[in-house]
Amino acid sequence: MVQSTKFIWFDGKMVPWERANVHVLTHTLHYGLGIFEGIRCYNTDNGPAIFRLKSHTKRFLNSAHILNMKIPFSFDELYEATKETVKQNNLKECYIRPLGFIGYGDMGLYPQHNKIQVAIAAWPWGTYLGKEGIKNGIRVKVSSFTRNQIDSSMTKSKTCGNYVNSQLAKWEAIDAGYDEAILLDSEGYASEGSAECLFAVRDGIIYTPPFGTILEGITRSSVVKIAEDLGYRVKEDRLTRDQLYVSDELFLAGTAAEITPIRDLDGRTIGNGSRGEITEKIQLIYFDAVHGNKKEYRQWLDFV
Ligand SMILES: Cc1ncc(COP(=O)(O)O)c(C=O)c1O
Repeated sequence: MVQSTKFIWFDGKMVPWERANVHVLTHTLHYGLGIFEGIRCYNTDNGPAIFRLKSHTKRFLNSAHILNMKIPFSFDELYEATKETVKQNNLKECYIRPLGFIGYGDMGLYPQHNKIQVAIAAWPWGTYLGKEGIKNGIRVKVSSFTRNQIDSSMTKSKTCGNYVNSQLAKWEAIDAGYDEAILLDSEGYASEGSAECLFAVRDGIIYTPPFGTILEGITRSSVVKIAEDLGYRVKEDRLTRDQLYVSDELFLAGTAAEITPIRDLDGRTIGNGSRGEITEKIQLIYFDAVHGNKKEYRQWLDFV
């Protein structure tokens, strides 16, 4: 259950948490055309800092642009509103959820006159795939559901409706006794997790699927930068399911999941069956960076 906080920024105003409500005929609730972001704020020696807020705000507006939704707030307004939401709720560490949706009005599929609404909520949310998972890895299943395809979904937009596909995969994996799912694209190449980008390590080289069907992950780009700064070669490449099975290390990267090693894929042990050496090195730097302990990555932090 979400841990409630005091206020939600809603259409330009701070509204008490319990009063941030909508009508049951809200358009997006029916057809899924809405957009959202997932952002984390971490505590640092200089107070709470939102990790890569500018990148997330930009992606939020890009998601809207892709869907031709006219968000009635500017980049600066959304950027400041996000900080203000964390500040007003006195949060040190939290998850932040901006949401853009089509409001109440027409119910047809061309809701020209409905208001576009925006809400930003923030609440404390610990690890997404568990502390134990971050340390020792999780068990993952290749999904029977194919990733949303580029000719039927806008995969670069963080569209609400896209997450039906993610949920089908995630539920199937959990029902089968796993922690998370990896989806393949329609040609059978690995795409991404239900809400994370995928990395594989083989013979010291780090591989990650190209942008094809995947979301342009912000954690993915942080991982690539950290890995390259550590001197590793990072290659964008299409990965087959069997290449994943014989990787030395596999890990998932996303705002919610942070960096989570995969210790088992479809019942096959990956590498040493725990967190791999390179995964651990990248993970340590990532956690240092988000907590403000790496001055070379300070530009990723937006202090509240
Ligand atoms: C489908 C999908 N892929 C990848 C990611 C990881 O993206 P990010 O690192 O920007 O959170 C997410 C989470 O936002 C996601 O939902």
